[in-house]
Amino acid sequence: MNSILNIEKNTVVDKANAFCKANGLELVFTYEISKADLQIISERTKNLPAMYHASVGMLLDRLKNGCFLIMKNGEIYGHIFAHRHTIEKHSVYERSSLWIHKTYRNHNLGLLLMDCLTKKFTKDFLISIAQEPTVHHNNELLGMKFITLKDLSPVLIETLEKLGKLRDEYKYKYYVNPYFESKINQFNKVLKNKI
Ligand SMILES: CC(C)(COP(=O)(O)OP(=O)(O)OC[C@H]1O[C@@H](n2cnc3c(N)ncnc32)[C@H](O)[C@@H]1OP(=O)(O)O)[C@@H](O)C(=O)NCCC(=O)NCCS
Repeated sequence: MNSILNIEKNTVVDKANAFCKANGLELVFTYEISKADLQIISERTKNLPAMYHASVGMLLDRLKNGCFLIMKNGEIYGHIFAHRHTIEKHSVYERSSLWIHKTYRNHNLGLLLMDCLTKKFTKDFLISIAQEPTVHHNNELLGMKFITLKDLSPVLIETLEKLGKLRDEYKYKYYVNPYFESKINQFNKVLKNKI
């Protein structure tokens, strides 16, 4: 990764960790969340226009991939999940349902959760589809690579299109992790043979 971006990322992540420590916030990786908390998270995704609605069932499915939480006194103050898309026998993970409690916003905790998830999936295909320039910048900080739709196999596009935010390169930008980037041609070839 570009070393200036890497230094910037490490500084921001260090700041976020220091903020957590100073405020009694704990970063947790888990495969378990109570039904009541899942219900709250699901409602949140429904009510916030920037989020894609995830039902409790969808969240339970995503929980199989594990999720990162920011906790304090047993309460959830931040979360991020990974949404697994299956293309033929292959899995492509997409970051999803990122949220930070209003009290703790703008202290880089969103980026901290994105960093944790990116690190967890270094040996998997990870994709981020987003609109906001801040997220694009964060993706670059996290070492993700910008790709265009023509770089992706039509089979993969078809699957991801179900999210309703593909084939729109004006609004959205696509970033993949270095592992995905390194295998993209191979992956496209495998998928082409399946058509
Ligand atoms: C988006 C969110 C998680 C950012 O949390 P945060 O801890 O404040 O993030 P950071 O401190 O790392 O980054 C701060 C800036 O980056 C933006 N940002 C970071 N990640 C973002 C994301 N995934 N989507 C949109 N904006 C994001 C923040 O909005 C903020 O911008 P601002 O200064 O113009 O307000 C938080 O604002 C939130 O929970 N919003 C409601 C839910 C939501 O929009 N989720 C993202 C769906 S893609």
